Amino acid sequence: MDKFIINGGKPLEGTVYIGGAKNAVLPAIAASLLASGISTISNAPQLRDVSTMCHLLRSLGAQIVFKDGVLTIDTANVNSFEAPYDIVKTMRASVYVLGPLIARFGKVLVSLPGGCAWGPRPIDLHLFGIKKLGAAISLDKGYINAAADTLHGAEIAFAKSSVGATGNVLMAAVTAKGKTVIRNAAVEPEITSLTENLVKMGAHIEGIGTSSLKISGVTSLEPLHTTVIPDRIEAGTFMAAGAIAGGKIILKNAEPSHLSAVIEKMRAAGISVKVGEEIIVESDGNILPADVLTDIYPGFPTDLQAQWIALMSVAKGNTVVEDTIFFDRFTHVAELNRLGADINVEANKAYIKGVDELKGAHVMSTDLRASASLILAGLRAKNQTEVHRIYHIDRGYESIEKKLQALGASIRRAPE
Ligand code: UD1
Repeated sequence: MDKFIINGGKPLEGTVYIGGAKNAVLPAIAASLLASGISTISNAPQLRDVSTMCHLLRSLGAQIVFKDGVLTIDTANVNSFEAPYDIVKTMRASVYVLGPLIARFGKVLVSLPGGCAWGPRPIDLHLFGIKKLGAAISLDKGYINAAADTLHGAEIAFAKSSVGATGNVLMAAVTAKGKTVIRNAAVEPEITSLTENLVKMGAHIEGIGTSSLKISGVTSLEPLHTTVIPDRIEAGTFMAAGAIAGGKIILKNAEPSHLSAVIEKMRAAGISVKVGEEIIVESDGNILPADVLTDIYPGFPTDLQAQWIALMSVAKGNTVVEDTIFFDRFTHVAELNRLGADINVEANKAYIKGVDELKGAHVMSTDLRASASLILAGLRAKNQTEVHRIYHIDRGYESIEKKLQALGASIRRAPE
């Protein structure tokens, strides 16, 4: 297992290239299962979650080549419909094969994903939607067993907006007989991207980008040829890095329109953000307090909550950060406090008293975004910080230490 060794206090300067979005490439890979033949996905990021998804598809019979950022997926010989526990337990997003496999085979066996380090993450909405399309669902030995002779269109109103459930039900519905309406559908850019991908494959979908998706079932789909949208969470993380370390960084290949809430909060925190073809973030390291409430898109993303708390830990005043999406996603707080931050968590709110300085220490990553927040704090902290158990970070950030090194940070990966 590796760790990061960071010597903080160096301002960042230069250009960083934002990669393809993890949360867009994973459903795109799953969608390739809907058609028999060769799909290609460009601008695919080199992430462990992508390798895990490829591993899962290979176990189903797909052949995959990943070269120069392009995934070539041949699904002609897919002949299995089981997503085993060993794979699903390492990545919840494996559950994205549920929709495509029930659509293609009329049956599917998917291991229940279980909890995360920061709490239970149910899939009841996924199952509710698939059931509405006519599948019989049973739970057996930790597996979801779904079967349907034919799926048929249905009116599906989600009680809560869910990215994963919308994606799964959408993929199941595109070849279901008749019309499906999904109400309270997620409108995250990654879902809009999935919807557009399905249309490229021949699906008939109206209301793209809205919370009301109307699908007219088609009998078959063509393979997918697409380019992955930029990762707004990677972009937001680098913006926060530029802000906390101070300096001036330029983000290339980011999509500013997906980052409106983040840009607005950065500006409220006294950070200069210029938006054109590129995003330019400039900071003298003086951060103003700016409260955040995470929300569904276009609100402030929960996937940037940990990074925002790291930034606010050195703000000139007090801040409240409330997570309305995942109530107990705060495992990074205890670790940030080891670096000298002053943060208390009550229910789903973090109360942050800005401190003058953070001091290097040994800290432990507990999940993907928590790891990012500890790296950000380490960039600011005096002396040396060691971030342990960093395997989480490789799930969702491509070569984060190399990108930070190129901006002048002192960060290196070392064996434990
Ligand atoms: C996706 C993202 C994740 C992000 C999250 C919220 C991927 C691979 N992951 O996760 O990075 O943090 O969106 O933007 O895209 N819920 C239920 N029942 C369900 C499903 C969800 O109650 O069946 C609840 C969840 O507990 C949560 C809320 O709905 O409170 C939103 O979760 P959801 O949008 O489904 O998140 P994911 O798709 O798992």
